[in-house]
Amino acid sequence: MNCAPTNESLPHPRMQSIRQRFSVEFSYDVHFTEGLFRPDNPLLADAVADASEPSPKKMVAVVDEGLLPHHEDLVEQIGAYAEAHADVLTLSASPIVVPGGEAAKNDPALVDHIHEVIYEARLDRHAYVLAVGGGAVLDLAGYAAGTAHRGIRLLRAPTTVLSQNDSGVGVKNGINAFDTKNFLGTFEPPHAVLNDVTVLRTLDDRDWRAGISEAIKVALLKDADFFEYLREHAPDLAPPSRDLEAMKPVVYRCAELHLDHIATSGDPFERGSSRPLDFGHWAAHKLEEKTDYALRHGEAVAIGLALDCAYSHLTGRLSREGLTQILDLMAALGFDLYVPELETRIDEPDDPRCLFQGLDSFREHLGGELTIMLLDAIGDGVEVHAVDRAQYREAIALLRERSAAASSPERVASPDTS
Ligand SMILES: NC(=O)c1ccc[n+]([C@@H]2O[C@H](COP(=O)([O-])OP(=O)(O)OC[C@H]3O[C@@H](n4cnc5c(N)ncnc54)[C@H](O)[C@@H]3O)[C@@H](O)[C@H]2O)c1
Ligand SMILES: [Zn+2]
Repeated sequence: MNCAPTNESLPHPRMQSIRQRFSVEFSYDVHFTEGLFRPDNPLLADAVADASEPSPKKMVAVVDEGLLPHHEDLVEQIGAYAEAHADVLTLSASPIVVPGGEAAKNDPALVDHIHEVIYEARLDRHAYVLAVGGGAVLDLAGYAAGTAHRGIRLLRAPTTVLSQNDSGVGVKNGINAFDTKNFLGTFEPPHAVLNDVTVLRTLDDRDWRAGISEAIKVALLKDADFFEYLREHAPDLAPPSRDLEAMKPVVYRCAELHLDHIATSGDPFERGSSRPLDFGHWAAHKLEEKTDYALRHGEAVAIGLALDCAYSHLTGRLSREGLTQILDLMAALGFDLYVPELETRIDEPDDPRCLFQGLDSFREHLGGELTIMLLDAIGDGVEVHAVDRAQYREAIALLRERSAAASSPERVASPDTS
């Protein structure tokens, strides 16, 4: 007997819909510590320990090669730490050492390799990938972890200013593809973030400085008092002083402001058209590409911020005094705020080298309406949806002239920013 329902007994499929709806709460801790891999530091073991799950937990570590000249026994330290805490964690493979910097995100073979190690080590969704390194290595390892078994738990141990105060505390990861930054990636909140500020001592001056640009960015958008702190402490923060005590509050407050934004903006996974935390980034990403990544991300962000601040001033938003304070702070920290790539093919909007193509890429990454951040005042960001390219060219000229004046002392020291 055929018991299959007849067409008559079911409602017409085209007339029916089921509304699926659920929400998932995310939470993770961002810790600040010193001596993360010292066996007597319980932080990492505590981040993994969970009485409700079987122990010990499997873990694979991915380590930034750029750390090794300065921390020669880092790989051994991670192994020794795991042995000292064998009741809660097991290293299931030797730590994977990957190139540091943007090279980590430009070679898809590295993703394959991490996947292979995860597969061979039989990691599951209750296991951990521990990523130790700068923002690029964290982005790579996070992407590999997020795509293996549709998501293995990620522990981040950021080791640069930028990754401790910005990239490592957020929910994004990714690699570059088709000559496009972060073309492949996922949104994947980490299990925990473990910031050891003492490792920042071994950064070279460029990387030490570069990460401060993200602190300036978020201060400009949200916190005028933080901007004042940065102004006051610029001489201590700038190389060669590099005062770690002055840097600690910078990393902490910047991380806090990023976390607060992600939690309260109503759009942690950037489904809308706006990315307020990417102030200055439309130009920054383009400049990174145009310079073949010779510019660090943070260095490019400093230029992108300077450009958008100059444009904010020229279009009647930010005061002249505000702009001068911002550019002076960046100069005091040692940022170079002009590169010729700002103007390459600037009159040829269809040329991929034209800076303004960065506006299209920025919009395309999210889809929807173009939305960039500008400043009404220090601590007061504002979204706009259209730009005047002629005025952007004036803003570029302003940066060029300021940079030229700074490099020829006989010229007037305080160029006109009106
Ligand atoms: N996922 C996000 O939300 C997000 C946000 C912002 C930036 N990013 C990405 O982060 C990357 C930039 O990260 P970054 O600024 O941390 O630089 P980076 O990862 O490129 O590292 C810079 C250099 O520092 C080395 N290094 C790392 N830690 C060190 C230490 N303690 N001592 C000495 N050398 C060390 C690295 O090997 C590398 O050579 C970019 O790819 C950018 O796109 C991601
Ligand atoms: Zn950034």
